[in-house]
Amino acid sequence: MMTKWDERYLTDDYVFGTAPNEFIARVLPQLPQGGRALDLATGEGRNGVFLAQHGFQAEGVDMSAVGLAKAQKLAAEKGVRFDTRQQNIADMAWPSEQYAVITSVFCHFIEPERTQIAQRIIGALQAGGMFAGVFYHPDQIALGTGGPKDAAMLGTLAQMQTAFHGLEWLVAEEIERDLSEGSRHRGKSAVIYLLGRKP
Ligand SMILES: C[S@@+](CC[C@H](N)C(=O)[O-])C[C@H]1O[C@@H](n2cnc3c(N)ncnc32)[C@H](O)[C@@H]1O
Repeated sequence: MMTKWDERYLTDDYVFGTAPNEFIARVLPQLPQGGRALDLATGEGRNGVFLAQHGFQAEGVDMSAVGLAKAQKLAAEKGVRFDTRQQNIADMAWPSEQYAVITSVFCHFIEPERTQIAQRIIGALQAGGMFAGVFYHPDQIALGTGGPKDAAMLGTLAQMQTAFHGLEWLVAEEIERDLSEGSRHRGKSAVIYLLGRKP
């Protein structure tokens, strides 16, 4: 069955571009050096492929087969290995303490799923592993430059930090940025940037 994301990705263009999200690129120097990395909701793969290019054994999951095919094409173009799996993040199995890094860029869940998934992410990180997350803030609804239309999918900085309780925060920001990430995320945007380490 085609998801709405499959339909959006059915174009030769990379709808979020092929460059990594600006926050993932920014925090790269703070991440562990190498190891397994998991990019949740990898879509067309720009962030997962970026991690693979920087020495991680990178994996990506997404529900969209069309997105994942483009992610594989991007990995081939960049000459890196990127393992992708078509899975629903909400009901997939999680390994315990396996990942040095887990990233999630612009994937939103309503509660109580948000907290359940956040805690599974923490369970899948090794001690000393890091989570880097990019989320729209509820103020984004009024800005209308991308992201969910349903405010229940978006949390404030405090709500996101509570969902991810147990991490030590290196970055926890709620800011406005002028984004230019492909055709779907463009213009003044209200975003949350999180970088947390599992003790
Ligand atoms: C806004 S796009 C972001 C894609 C990518 N992270 C990026 O920044 O380029 C959201 C992605 O989340 C995926 N997604 C949404 N809900 C999901 C779920 N429950 N399980 C797996 N993937 C999901 C969609 O298929 C889509 O590729």
